[in-house]
Amino acid sequence: MTERFTRRDFIAAGIAAGTAFVAGPAVAATRDSVEFTLNAAPAKTKIVGGDYPDTMAWTYNGVVPGPLIRKRQGDRLRVRVHNRLAEPTTVHFHGVRMPNAMDGVPFVTQDPIAPKNSFLYDFTLPDAGTFWYHPHSNSSEQVARGLAGPLVVEERNPIAVDRDLVWVLDDWLLDKSAAIAGGFGNPHDLSHNGRIGNTVTINGRLPGHISVRGGERIRLRLVNVANARFFALRFDGHAPKIIALDGQPVPPHAADDGTVVLAPAQRADLILDMTQPPGSRFTVSDRYYRRQPYRLVDIAYGSEKPLRSGPPDTPIALPANPLPEPKLREAARHEVVLEGGAMGGMMGGRMGGMMGGMMGGGPMGMRALAGRGLFWALNGVAMPEDMRRIEPLLTFQHGRSQILTLRNETAWDHPMHLHGHSFRVLSRNGKPEKNQPWLDTVLLHPRDRVDVAFVADNPGDWMFHCHILEHQKAGMMATVRVA
Ligand code: C2O
Ligand code: CU
Repeated sequence: MTERFTRRDFIAAGIAAGTAFVAGPAVAATRDSVEFTLNAAPAKTKIVGGDYPDTMAWTYNGVVPGPLIRKRQGDRLRVRVHNRLAEPTTVHFHGVRMPNAMDGVPFVTQDPIAPKNSFLYDFTLPDAGTFWYHPHSNSSEQVARGLAGPLVVEERNPIAVDRDLVWVLDDWLLDKSAAIAGGFGNPHDLSHNGRIGNTVTINGRLPGHISVRGGERIRLRLVNVANARFFALRFDGHAPKIIALDGQPVPPHAADDGTVVLAPAQRADLILDMTQPPGSRFTVSDRYYRRQPYRLVDIAYGSEKPLRSGPPDTPIALPANPLPEPKLREAARHEVVLEGGAMGGMMGGRMGGMMGGMMGGGPMGMRALAGRGLFWALNGVAMPEDMRRIEPLLTFQHGRSQILTLRNETAWDHPMHLHGHSFRVLSRNGKPEKNQPWLDTVLLHPRDRVDVAFVADNPGDWMFHCHILEHQKAGMMATVRVA
């Protein structure tokens, strides 16, 4: 298989070096610890390997991705974060429905954690599923430099599998010496499809192969922590079943066209039955960018005799999480229009919070906003990342069902993420969405119109933003208030 990245050196180099790779947690599980510590600090990591130098990344506890935090549904999670970076940070536990004060958003839910300071995140985990954590401060740079880690919340009665694996999928923009390239927040990335890298990793390494045994059943938890790269994974010779999306159970089903699509921040839990003969080898490829398909990793069967003769007949459907079902008839309705970007035109955009103050109440033109690095808007308002006092874009009555219509009027894809809640995706362009899944991050293709519904049961000011981190930085972000 040929690799087709425009900058392909690292992908090719890793494979030539024969990087042996076994997917699995980066570090030991931490389920039993009472309080867990995350040190955010620069550290050298072996992303490329082979003859290449180590990569200086920003890490949690010295590793990329950050350590796998494994807890059980209903457990309390206490994480003390020490900031050993040279700039402020916070940690957001993406997808977890938690009290607002623990949500990790600087200026909105907490003061940023200054260098040398620490903060204790302390909350219980209402939902089982696959989640992740990352900074919410200068996110487009901090996440790109390596700050992201997986959080797995086990069901009280988990389904039977032989192995439970996590693949943290990431994308790095590296230079010829395997150092992280600069250029964060350049106007092109901000206004187009974000910072796309040249090196894709699984659990922080260039993948070579994953060793499996015939007959085994694997639960594979995929987490896309890339700033901007999408994945569309095909498992040659295998028929994965999707059992959860964004941590929330869905009826087990095969992926459309056999392809598992993950936008930035999205997760998918798969059941993979290893049905091929001992000694065989298959490829997992990524085909999201049609002109640049590439081999992500190989599945290599060992020579042992298969663990069993056919797939086990134990159930794979997950128990539902305790999410309140929205009452669609009595729901309040709101609309959010996504605007801006290259080829879109954001004429008349206003900068959130500054209206009536600095801007004299008048709408700002595209050029003035772009001069401030703002290229995107929600309902005409572009929110700068370091905004300290923000008027909410929408206000939801506490306890009431809500239907949100999202309309993408740009020429670009946007994975839109709501904090503090999961929402049901009702329909897309007028057609009911398959399985109407509960998500926390929903992908809108250009011109899409998507209806989502949820009960606004979690009081506070919550972020609502695009998870292409350059779009978030460039204005595609807002707060919504539940009160
Ligand atoms: Cu993954 Cu606002 O976050
Ligand atoms: Cu976007």
